[in-house]
Amino acid sequence: MTTTADLRFVGRSIERLDGPAKVTGTAPYAYEQPVSDPLYLYPLRSTIARGRVTCLDTADASAVHESVRILTPHNAHRLPDWAPADLRVLQDDSVAYHGQFVGAAIASTPEVARHAAELVRISYQPTAHDTQLRVDHPDRYAPEKVLDGSLVADVSHGDLDAGLIVADVALDLTYRTSGEHHVAMEPNTTVAIWNVIEGTDHLTLYDSNQGAWVIQAFLAPVLGLDASQLEVISPFVGGSFGSKTFPRPLHVLVALAARSVPGRPVKFALSRQHTFVGTAYRTPTIQRVRLGARWDGTLTAIGHDAVEQTARYGEFAEPTAVSSRMLYAAPARSTTHRLVPLDVCIPGFMRAPGEAPGSFALESAMDELAVELGIDPIELRIRNEPATDPDSGRPFSSRELVWCLREGATRFGWPERDPTPRHRLKDGWWIGTGVASASYPRQQHFPPSSATVRALTNDRYRVELAASDLGTGALTILTQIAADLLGVELGSVEVVIGSSSLPRALAAAGSMGTASWSEAIIAATDTFRATHGCTPVVGAHVTATAGPSADEKDFAMHAFGAQFAEVAVHADTGEIRTRRLLGVFDAGRVINPRTARSQLVGGMIMGLSMALHEHSVMDHRYGQVINHDLASYHVAAHADIPEIDAVWLGTPDPHYNTLGAKGIAEIGIVGVAAAIANAAYHATGVRVRSLPITLDNFFTAASVDDRPEVVAS
Ligand code: MOS
Repeated sequence: MTTTADLRFVGRSIERLDGPAKVTGTAPYAYEQPVSDPLYLYPLRSTIARGRVTCLDTADASAVHESVRILTPHNAHRLPDWAPADLRVLQDDSVAYHGQFVGAAIASTPEVARHAAELVRISYQPTAHDTQLRVDHPDRYAPEKVLDGSLVADVSHGDLDAGLIVADVALDLTYRTSGEHHVAMEPNTTVAIWNVIEGTDHLTLYDSNQGAWVIQAFLAPVLGLDASQLEVISPFVGGSFGSKTFPRPLHVLVALAARSVPGRPVKFALSRQHTFVGTAYRTPTIQRVRLGARWDGTLTAIGHDAVEQTARYGEFAEPTAVSSRMLYAAPARSTTHRLVPLDVCIPGFMRAPGEAPGSFALESAMDELAVELGIDPIELRIRNEPATDPDSGRPFSSRELVWCLREGATRFGWPERDPTPRHRLKDGWWIGTGVASASYPRQQHFPPSSATVRALTNDRYRVELAASDLGTGALTILTQIAADLLGVELGSVEVVIGSSSLPRALAAAGSMGTASWSEAIIAATDTFRATHGCTPVVGAHVTATAGPSADEKDFAMHAFGAQFAEVAVHADTGEIRTRRLLGVFDAGRVINPRTARSQLVGGMIMGLSMALHEHSVMDHRYGQVINHDLASYHVAAHADIPEIDAVWLGTPDPHYNTLGAKGIAEIGIVGVAAAIANAAYHATGVRVRSLPITLDNFFTAASVDDRPEVVAS
């Protein structure tokens, strides 16, 4: 590789190269891809949570317009039996969750399709359902693995009970986090075109996703196709956050519809209400945290037991307690995960799945411990900084958590903080500050990525790989990297991403994109220069593949951060507002400060939203998420977002990858909810252990009666 001294564009705040196309509306998102003579799909969704469809009466619907077709389990194409339950769409009459697709109306306009869908009369035979997550659920079970099967569910070192007995202070606390739903600006969308060419099926999907080849690889066999028969085209994606990683029922539904009308494009964009069910969402959790410590703050025991929900028809196990394995040193440590199968849609990925809810529990408990011990919460964390990874015993490739905490303390004004809770009342608001640590791992499953470099005319180059830009700036930073590696101007490189026909690259998920794609580009450019020199003939090209660095087995690799929050809680109403957020991060080399800051600040805002707003409310009588729209499911909006800043160390991690970039997509959200809850405790003396934190928690008799005589500023 070129030496870092040659990096002219990496590290610079280059504006998004696709910005002008996006703001002028000329960047085609999936629904906007020009297709001729399309049909539109509107889904039929179950109104019971469990049971069977006994009758689908389509007579009135079909009579609406000549273009109307109704797709049902009776006329839909059969899929292979082995297909995952989640993707066996319209294969039988069973209903596994409220809002499940049980059919679809297709018509020549979206309005006719929707009208026809509403005229289909559906009868059900309901079965008793259960949608309530509880710790003592009789069906609760222990999964073997969590996340994508790469992590064992239960890990213990030492004797937890013994560690708690020898402690001077032992805490046993329970925390709860809410289910959360994805509200990416662009809803999950697919346009499907099923062609039969010389007797061979061929499906084209214009699709919004995090990795075109992932959709191709997982969906093609379910549809009975070879990968070569399925092309997925996804140049622009309007946000995702984990909701578009894998094929979902919508992909199968629209593909089945397209198959029934060969040659005609079928367009299907989920409505906002549809996105609340049937796509990924974050499971609610109930977490028990046990901590034991000596009076000097030394931890003797860490126990973290997570209970989550999954679907009765399929398993997803969020790695909620996993970061408690490595964040602090303690001789006795135990982490467990338990799943409760319910009659709900299967949960899935949402930004820092596991670490975000898990850090709320662990980092709240660390704050409670600091209060019990009378030790500053930053000092408590520093006193438990491990020399090596407590879980694997390996050294950290780099770990600057202490730097993050200290740097943040200075910038945030922590030394001036009076630790006494309920101490600072200003203009009718209790003010407080809080802190939390953050970590996010390098994923265990880190497959290689490939890239092609091709010489064009006039000393220009094209770099091709099936990466995805979810709005993050990935296209821009890949161009920066490629230009530097080829030693040419930014404008001399065209990076092409977002199609399954490009060289296979990792999906934009798990904060792995930059770390993996950059290796492929480095391998391809190095090989290209070695093969074709600096004056290649037009058309010369090289494809290369690069896997994870060999150091992976020798080091524990994580990004780190420290989150600081200042909140105000109204003394009379209990209204809580965040006044300041500061995140300080160790995420290795930052390729583009402008887009990186946007990612980190965006993650922190999502954390604020988790702390104070986002609340999936299930009506257990019907097994339905009732606040399934943006009028009643609140996400942080501009008025909720305070003074906010993200800063970083920026030192490359020499073991992570060639550029030393750790990935920044998820670390920003981790720890924010705990920092806000800890600040709320400092402000009011009220400890809230359940998210979201709402005003009723503070609306106690004490909140109006015990204001100090002298009001601190
Ligand atoms: Mo994301 S939650 O890494 O798909």
